[in-house]
Amino acid sequence: MTSINPHGGVLVNRIATGAERETLLSEAASLSSIIVNTWTISDLDLIGVGAFSPLTGFMNEEDYRSVVERMRLANGTVWSIPITLAVEEAKAAELSVGQRAALVGEDGVVYATIDIASIYGVDQKHEAVNVFKTDDLAHPGVAKLFARPSTYVGGSITVLNRPVPEKFNEFYFEPAETRRIFAEKGWRTVVGFQTRNPVHRAHEYIQKCAMEIVDALFLNPLVGETKSDDVPANVRMKSYIALLENYYPADRTFLGVFPAAMRYAGPREAIFHAMVRKNYGCTHFIVGRDHAGVGDYYGTYEAQELLRSFPLEELGITPLYFEHSFFCTKCGNMASSKTCPHGKEDHLTLSGTKVRALLRDGVCPPPEFSRPEVAKILIEGMSGQPV
Ligand code: ADX
Repeated sequence: MTSINPHGGVLVNRIATGAERETLLSEAASLSSIIVNTWTISDLDLIGVGAFSPLTGFMNEEDYRSVVERMRLANGTVWSIPITLAVEEAKAAELSVGQRAALVGEDGVVYATIDIASIYGVDQKHEAVNVFKTDDLAHPGVAKLFARPSTYVGGSITVLNRPVPEKFNEFYFEPAETRRIFAEKGWRTVVGFQTRNPVHRAHEYIQKCAMEIVDALFLNPLVGETKSDDVPANVRMKSYIALLENYYPADRTFLGVFPAAMRYAGPREAIFHAMVRKNYGCTHFIVGRDHAGVGDYYGTYEAQELLRSFPLEELGITPLYFEHSFFCTKCGNMASSKTCPHGKEDHLTLSGTKVRALLRDGVCPPPEFSRPEVAKILIEGMSGQPV
């Protein structure tokens, strides 16, 4: 086993198997059902496998309020993002505390049962301002929040059916598996890398700086729901595989997906991302510029500042902070303001919008920005060719 403890001390496992699963499945047929969307299914599955340890279900009112107000569960454990089950008011009126209900997908599959411990109304505006630091509907996370009903149901869940990935199944691992694999490989220190983007040279640079001081890199791209102009996960996966094959040492890197939805909550999401990677067995976690940010809602280093405001012992994973990185034409290498004495005019930086425009036109960004193997896959992916 790796030496790092899961968040809260115990790796949660809420996946029912064998006879327990059969019994619950037949019971589920006569339970009240709550219809859940893909986002909620991904949350419940991540709770089930322990990626969201110590959560055993959707948050009850006490934990929810505590997380929104002070970034801690009611028992004081650090937790920054509400993980909640929103239900229509009419549906909530049919439910009661103490009851068990079935969580059913739009496809009719019973994904889980929930033992209802709490039914409560929330002030979405208050949640938005605390979690996202804005209630602007132009913010993709805020828009998602306001599109949900404002009644939440909390309680422990038991997963009965797991969502089946359409592609790249071989890169789906449960935290118990990544922990075992890291231990088998003899890695004592593993740095986790969150991304919702293709890995460009700046990402590669900070990953490799980190790899100089730890045993291995866990490239853990988020592949759940993202906003529509982000590069689709299937295209990204192909590009990660090509990048690792060509530029990374196979015995010191491991690719596995994080099948969660992106919240775009910047600083608060950085804490959440770090806690989850701890559950997957990482000892270190990379936080660079504007981590999990969108638009201009967060300061470049605000995520780093928020993480620094928590005692390291409470985080239980060591964040590795990186400054904005770029290729410097005078240095002739990747650098940051910490290592490069030259001015902005010597630095190659391209905005996401500019890069997407180049790729859509079938033009490779410069190799100092993106590896040609990666650019080629992105161009193919963005031209709508099957991946
Ligand atoms: S995120 O929403 O998943 O954070 P992205 O995939 O772009 O977005 O970033 C992944 C990680 O790399 C984050 O920790 C982010 O802060 C960092 N990062 C991205 N670009 C840079 C850069 N040019 N310099 C330094 N860090 C960066």
